Amino acid sequence: MDENVHKHHSKRIDQLLATLFKSYEFIIIAEGEQSKSTSQLLRIIDFLLENGIKRVNPIVVIGGGVVGDLAGFAASIALRGVPFIQLPTTLLSMVDSSVGGKTGINLTTGKNLIGSFYQPEAVIIDLSYLASLPKREWASGLGEIIKYAAISDQNLFDEVLDLLEKSVSPDDLRWIPIINKCVQIKADIVQEDELESGIRSFLNFGHTFAHAIERALNYSGILHGEAVFLGMIAATHLSNLSGSSLDINRLMTFNKYLNIKWPHEIVDLDHLIQLMKFDKKNTDDAITFILLDQWAKPIKKNILNTDIVKQALLMTMTDTKDECLQ
Ligand SMILES: NC(=O)c1ccc[n+]([C@@H]2O[C@H](COP(=O)([O-])OP(=O)(O)OC[C@H]3O[C@@H](n4cnc5c(N)ncnc54)[C@H](O)[C@@H]3O)[C@@H](O)[C@H]2O)c1
Repeated sequence: MDENVHKHHSKRIDQLLATLFKSYEFIIIAEGEQSKSTSQLLRIIDFLLENGIKRVNPIVVIGGGVVGDLAGFAASIALRGVPFIQLPTTLLSMVDSSVGGKTGINLTTGKNLIGSFYQPEAVIIDLSYLASLPKREWASGLGEIIKYAAISDQNLFDEVLDLLEKSVSPDDLRWIPIINKCVQIKADIVQEDELESGIRSFLNFGHTFAHAIERALNYSGILHGEAVFLGMIAATHLSNLSGSSLDINRLMTFNKYLNIKWPHEIVDLDHLIQLMKFDKKNTDDAITFILLDQWAKPIKKNILNTDIVKQALLMTMTDTKDECLQ
């Protein structure tokens, strides 16, 4: 269980676990990306074995994507696999990381470099956990929701905007249909392509740019969903530079609520492009991007001409330089 979730919700969690199990033990994981480490992985596995876990005993993973990825990986390798249940507590983990079975940890050489595809037995989504989530973390999750609108369901743009305009709070039940849609979109894609040999890669819309931005900042100062939002703006510009005609304002209107700015530390765009060339999804010298033919019509493209990539980045910098909240 994530330490902040424990701080805010230990009573609610105790009540839930007491209704599900005769007895249980829990371990608290320090918040933050640095917990996706080999030392925390082994700490969890030792804890499970010391408490005599058997192959039939489920682990309940309670927290955001960090704890989900870490403990999901532990579940997949302890005793060669014990069942696990995800109880996501951030918006990002509800709509994205808890669904689809990707688990993993970081190494000094990079993010998510070891892991497994291991599906949870169940995912329990309870919006009331979001009441304590910092606003910036919630906005980061919205970035991923907007991604589903862009790659799969344009109606989601208007549905999300409607609730944002009404200032509906994160734990309000009116978000449920939107979260359900996102989970359904992801589940449908994963069901068709669990191991990401085809359409699952569409979920990476904006991510080639996002991963380079995160790496350039050494994974600090920017949240994943924030980097994805900037990456989607860049990918939309790149789509247009490659022949599409998408209205960038479809995305930009959300920045009134998300307030995501281009990180002022990133000025060397050639370096950013170099980082994209190292992306593990590339197969040759070209950089692989998920672009859009139209909204909700993603395509995979390998791009060799980095001039247009740079142009797309410059346009993104201009779009997001001085955005400010309302
Ligand atoms: N497996 C996948 O498919 C997948 C997909 C996307 C992202 N990810 C991974 O997910 C991670 C990011 O996940 P995240 O955005 O959920 O971040 P996170 O797990 O780091 O949580 C963000 C912050 O919110 C706190 N928190 C969590 N729930 C809370 C609550 N209810 N109230 C108050 N505070 C709370 C945490 O302690 C942390 O400080 C990254 O490591 C990323 O690589 C995985």
